[in-house]
Amino acid sequence: MREQQLAGLTRDYDNMQRNYQGLLDRRLNARLAESLEKRQKGEQFRVIDPAHFPTFPESPDVMKIMMLALFAGCGLGFGTAIVIETMRSSFRYGDEVERLLGIPILAEVPSYQSAFGGVSRALSFGGTSSTSTSSSRHTPLPGWGKTTPGNGNGKGKKDVLVVDRAPGTPDWNLVMKWRPLSAVAEQYRVAATRLALMSTERKCSVVVVTSSVKGEGKTATALNVGYALAHDLGKRTLMIDCDFKQPRLNVYAGVSADPGLSSVLQEIGSSMESCIHQLDESPLWILPAGSVSVRPIELFKIKRLEALLTELRERFDFIILDAPPILPLADMNVFVSMGDILALVIRSEETRTDIVQKALKALRPANQTGIILTGIQANETPYYMKGEHYAVPNSPTR
Ligand SMILES: Nc1ncnc2c1ncn2[C@@H]1O[C@H](COP(=O)(O)OP(=O)(O)OP(=O)(O)O)[C@@H](O)[C@H]1O
Ligand SMILES: [Mg+2]
Repeated sequence: MREQQLAGLTRDYDNMQRNYQGLLDRRLNARLAESLEKRQKGEQFRVIDPAHFPTFPESPDVMKIMMLALFAGCGLGFGTAIVIETMRSSFRYGDEVERLLGIPILAEVPSYQSAFGGVSRALSFGGTSSTSTSSSRHTPLPGWGKTTPGNGNGKGKKDVLVVDRAPGTPDWNLVMKWRPLSAVAEQYRVAATRLALMSTERKCSVVVVTSSVKGEGKTATALNVGYALAHDLGKRTLMIDCDFKQPRLNVYAGVSADPGLSSVLQEIGSSMESCIHQLDESPLWILPAGSVSVRPIELFKIKRLEALLTELRERFDFIILDAPPILPLADMNVFVSMGDILALVIRSEETRTDIVQKALKALRPANQTGIILTGIQANETPYYMKGEHYAVPNSPTR
């Protein structure tokens, strides 16, 4: 009995000993697993690449923005210039005129304002009688200093040329006389020379000077070119003012207006001889338009000029007709048919190209034609066209 109890107790003890040993093993395993896990975790978060502080801001990218702005600025500038240039509807340079109209250029006359600088020295050199005196006053010159209506695009220049001249002497337009060494005079000389070259075959050439619309500089151009033909090339030249609505030739030439062509054409007593004035003892004569009547002179009377011209051709090398503008008037076709050469005056950067094309289409000139571009900005003319052309001893200080 007691042996049975001992055996039972021994068995329980052994069981409990085994359990205890098992628990000890499991505790050891658990600790091993725990330490292994801890070691693995530590390895998982090891810093391989330590963080760096940035040396420049990631955004905005100033260089990129500046490059983009540079390209955009350049593109905008070029783009605007191209758009303005393609939208410009007037002529600026002679080669543009030649390209678009297919008519040769006779001269490119700079504007007085840009060529003379708009100061008193404008007309003070090279002239004789009308230069300034102590009594002279600064006079704003008319014309391109004002808005000129009917110039094709309604624009007008605001700048005013001021010269030291006594008021009421608009003969300053005779640049060939008052400023013979200027770039402006030189261009009138160029036109005169080209006209002379175009006329070598003829004994006398009748040149009709006109423009598409009014106020483009016809009269000033005609007078100066006539002066150059007579004075510089020694051609016997007669200038006839055929603009009965706006006669200015006598004003610019400084001769009396009446009697003139209108009296001769209307056969009201005046002889041709009594109407013609010689200018400055050079071989240049002026036939003014005569008194301006309210009613236009009938076309058949204007046609009488043709017969007069036949007679006058015998006496002169050049006859220059200062004609009215082409577009508003009907009689231009008659004048053009009387001439050998048509000199079309175009005001640079003012008269619209389509207006010039329309005028030429209306006229359909059959005679030799050349263009005189006036009012070119001197800063757009080549350097050799600026300033005086020849060294002048004892020239006044400028
Ligand atoms: N190259 C130039 N530079 C600056 N002004 C000029 C030039 N040529 C002419 N002008 C001025 O332009 C104005 C008009 O000139 P002009 O009288 O010769 O033109 P026009 O075409 O004969 O005019 P209209 O159709 O009224 O007869 C004048 O005041 C003149 O002084
Ligand atoms: Mg005129």
